[in-house]
Amino acid sequence: MPPAPPFANQDPSQLSIDQLAELLTFCDDAYYRDAQSPLSDAAYDRAKDRLRAVAPDHPVVHKIGAPAGSGDKVAHVSSMLSLDKCTMADEFWAWYRGNLAQSTGKPNSAKLDDAARQWAAQPAGRLVATPKIDGLACALRYNAKGELEVAATRGDGRVGEDVTLNAKRIANLVQRLPAGGPQGPLEVRGEVYLPLSRFASVSDQFANPRNLAAGVLKAKDSSAFPPENLAFFAYDLISQAGDVAPTTESAKLELLVALGFAPPPWRVCSGLDAQAAFDRFAANRATDDFESDGIVLRMDDLALAARLGVTSHHPRAAIAWKYAANSDTTVLEAVHWSVARTGTITPVAVVAPVTLSGATVTRATLHNVSNLLRLALRPGDQIEVVRRGGVIPHVERVVLPGTAAAVQPPSACPSCGAPTVQVQRDDGKGKSVLVLQCGDPDHCVAARQRSLLHFCQSLELEGFGDKVVEILIDQGLVDNPADLFLLRVDDLTALPRVGPTMASNLLAQVQRARRTKLPMLLVSLGIPSLGKQTAQLLAARGDLAAIRSMSTADIAQLHSLGDKSAEAIVRGLAEQSMLLDALLLHIEVETQMLPGGPGDGPMAGQVVVFTGAMQRMGRRDAQQWVIKQGGLAGDSVTADTTFLVVGGDELDSPTPSSKLKKAIKLRDGGQKLQILSEDGFFQNFGSVL
Ligand code: IVH
Repeated sequence: MPPAPPFANQDPSQLSIDQLAELLTFCDDAYYRDAQSPLSDAAYDRAKDRLRAVAPDHPVVHKIGAPAGSGDKVAHVSSMLSLDKCTMADEFWAWYRGNLAQSTGKPNSAKLDDAARQWAAQPAGRLVATPKIDGLACALRYNAKGELEVAATRGDGRVGEDVTLNAKRIANLVQRLPAGGPQGPLEVRGEVYLPLSRFASVSDQFANPRNLAAGVLKAKDSSAFPPENLAFFAYDLISQAGDVAPTTESAKLELLVALGFAPPPWRVCSGLDAQAAFDRFAANRATDDFESDGIVLRMDDLALAARLGVTSHHPRAAIAWKYAANSDTTVLEAVHWSVARTGTITPVAVVAPVTLSGATVTRATLHNVSNLLRLALRPGDQIEVVRRGGVIPHVERVVLPGTAAAVQPPSACPSCGAPTVQVQRDDGKGKSVLVLQCGDPDHCVAARQRSLLHFCQSLELEGFGDKVVEILIDQGLVDNPADLFLLRVDDLTALPRVGPTMASNLLAQVQRARRTKLPMLLVSLGIPSLGKQTAQLLAARGDLAAIRSMSTADIAQLHSLGDKSAEAIVRGLAEQSMLLDALLLHIEVETQMLPGGPGDGPMAGQVVVFTGAMQRMGRRDAQQWVIKQGGLAGDSVTADTTFLVVGGDELDSPTPSSKLKKAIKLRDGGQKLQILSEDGFFQNFGSVL
């Protein structure tokens, strides 16, 4: 754990100017020199904003980065500045209008709005938008021969740290400028970052990609995580030579591309489209291979940018429009253990309310016991909570540990008191983690409560929410979902806070559920891997009896279902067979089988797999057609497959697909499997089309 920042647990508005400066300097040094983030970005920004408000001229407000670390120093040819920032559309617009005001010599005020709107439509008012990459600023110096000579970090903006050796190993970095284009001496600036796809494999060992990228770039010994993993986005080109003289920012980016560099994705837009660009880049974040914390907007016209000039801190022609913070620091109040339907007990952090991406958050998942133990959480800890891409917030790290004892997993189920068991389980990403389970899930009240709630939700029984379900179980009225169908008005009106109207409404809902569609019933059982989509697939294949008699292989044949899911479904159906029988005493199941159905029709007993490009119909339709004819449609060739139907000209291809190869092997091994072209197949069976 790095040393704690001074005054970090105090409200910035309560700190003196000196204290704020000390806190910010501490954080800057840790961030720029040691690749550490002692505070969340949001907490850092609050402290900086406060200092800016109370002491706008304080040197710490205008400072850029931190002095270069222990490596050799490199003096920059021109200052590597920071960026001005805004977080809202009207702040952006004030900046944009300000640029017009500056260039026309008028004062910036709302009076200029109309003029700014007109300006937006002209080339002079054009902007270039790029994502603001969460990496490390880096300057690459090319000599007169076009060779990469020096790579340096930003440092404090004037003097950076020499990282040439590691930087030269970055995969997409230009080592030598191509012949025929502008030659050196010139400098390319941009952001070194670690692509998220490469970070994924080590994400459990490092706090975030930026820290790791910084560590790798500055490392003396890079054997642990080689710099070849890093990548570089170029956004600037500085040249003393007159032959490199683009007149717009976008032309500069194009020139960088011609030189072999990768700029960040960019869009040229008018001032009126900046919000749309912001929204577009924000939407792309979920699938981008890099982290970004906003967009950078730069005036496209370089002559204008030169006229606007720079402050000691940033160029006036550029601004970073930041995304709403999706992470912040808050206090851990307690760890709550939540018992799921399956008996899995998950640790949940209960935190002091904090706003993440615009929503108030008071709970954050801790995923599993391994993760809890890794974080060594204690009530009173200052923790960073992150909410990425609309998913459930989670606890990223401890910023400042509290003094209480670390939370341990309970030895008894918090719901039913049964001893808990810790089991190793795959976390869904191929990593084995410790998971806590109630030792007696079948009898566990919370587990039963969740099962009942899930049942009610799946059957859309209105009124059966958390509270009602809890009371029904607590009062011993309902032990399992089938008991719902035995409830009488008197039972319900005897309950606290349930009047006659509510009782009859609840019973009306139960009444309605006496006829239920098969997929809904299947989902209501709460079997792992048996969600809505799978239930629909199964229901298209047969009635409940048929589904209950399906083997793992039968189920695995269904579209996109793997063996593991199929096993879970077969096991779940067996485990729930008593409940199902009990439910069937009360429920009439509406089946939805496609006409025909399995076991009945010209394709009965056949298992058909399609491969290659089909001409007559799409693969899905072809599979549906087989099912209608009473056959099974598989996605992969297995020992059960009886037909492989090969679309396109793949049968004649010298490089058969893996499905075709496997089918040939099975057929030649004596299995009753026919390989047919699409035409051949439909000529045999198409009469029923
Ligand atoms: S334009 C004054 N474009 O953000 C330099 N900078 O917080 C303007 N950054 O120092 C450069 N992504 O290191 C630009 N798409 C992008 C960027 C970007 C990240 C960095 C840059 C700058 C820092 C300011």
